[in-house]
Amino acid sequence: MDLRHKRIVVTGGSGFLGRHLVQRLRGAGCDKVFVPRSAEFDLTQEDDIRRLLGQQRPEVVIHLAALVGGIGANRANPATFLYKNLLMGAQLIEHSYRSGVGKFVMVGTICSYPKFTPVPFKEEDLWNGYPEETNAPYGLAKKLLIVQLQAYKQQFGFNGINLLPVNLYGPHDNFDLQTSHVIPALIRKCAEARERGDRVLTVWGTGKPTREFLYVEDAARAIHLAAQKHDSPEPVNVGSGDEISIAALVRLIAQKTGFQGEIRLDPSQPDGQPRRCLDTTRARQLFDFQAEVRLPEGLDRTIAWYESARKPAQGHAA
Ligand SMILES: NC(=O)c1ccc[n+]([C@@H]2O[C@H](COP(=O)([O-])OP(=O)(O)OC[C@H]3O[C@@H](n4cnc5c(N)ncnc54)[C@H](OP(=O)(O)O)[C@@H]3O)[C@@H](O)[C@H]2O)c1
Repeated sequence: MDLRHKRIVVTGGSGFLGRHLVQRLRGAGCDKVFVPRSAEFDLTQEDDIRRLLGQQRPEVVIHLAALVGGIGANRANPATFLYKNLLMGAQLIEHSYRSGVGKFVMVGTICSYPKFTPVPFKEEDLWNGYPEETNAPYGLAKKLLIVQLQAYKQQFGFNGINLLPVNLYGPHDNFDLQTSHVIPALIRKCAEARERGDRVLTVWGTGKPTREFLYVEDAARAIHLAAQKHDSPEPVNVGSGDEISIAALVRLIAQKTGFQGEIRLDPSQPDGQPRRCLDTTRARQLFDFQAEVRLPEGLDRTIAWYESARKPAQGHAA
């Protein structure tokens, strides 16, 4: 599908991933991209969804809007994470179908995988167990939307696709320690500990779990490619295929941010899923996606962005 002159609605297009995707789409010549903001279109409200689709008459909907966060935010708000994510997606898919949208791109999450999925995670294993408890309400809400798009394809021939990105990181990530994911949280903690001259930095968990990370611009490129080249609702992993333990990640970020003190792990805090690493074969075969930015380089770019973005705001010397 040539997206350039299509009317495209990108929900969540002002968020972390969304702003990179919108920039990429516009840079590729897409001249009718609309980003609804939650203050004007609250996607948990059916009337707002009807109004959005009626006003914009999109040919393509890319659904990124969601309530997202790290383990702490998920543990504090499991009901809200389930209810809002399910409601937004379910209503948006239904009304997109009813209003004749030609393609619906659903951005799901790796948190939908079972807690003990064999590594590397293959899409066929998605249904073989219950997700890790701390993010199960979020992961299950998004998982049901996969089924919704499959059912709408089967019953109505509606063209929806399901992408499952791994943990993302990069410039414009959320660095609020109450709600952030692991990489921005560690960058901020290390940078602040360095500035205060702390001798010890405490990090949640045992350090043993592994994670895979994808640089946000790679994720935006994957969504763009899939929106153009892929037309089937079976879920597709979007990742880098690189696995790293949390302990090794902390050491890498400490080194890159210049924190030289001791790193102390706090095993009384939850670890989350034991291992995460994706089989990325399907994305390569179906829409020719492969990650390009390796973790050390992506971290350098993210840290550089963070250091330059926060200094004026927080009044540090240049
Ligand atoms: N970040 C990751 O590591 C990661 C990994 C895998 C998958 N994903 C998925 O990628 C998508 C984007 O994540 P992100 O990290 O970019 O999130 P984000 O920065 O928190 O952005 C979320 C966006 O959702 C919009 N939104 C939230 N509630 C809304 C509502 N009720 N009505 C309308 N819009 C609403 C917000 O719009 P306003 O700014 O207008 O309020 C915001 O722009 C999500 O679907 C997430 O599940 C993210």
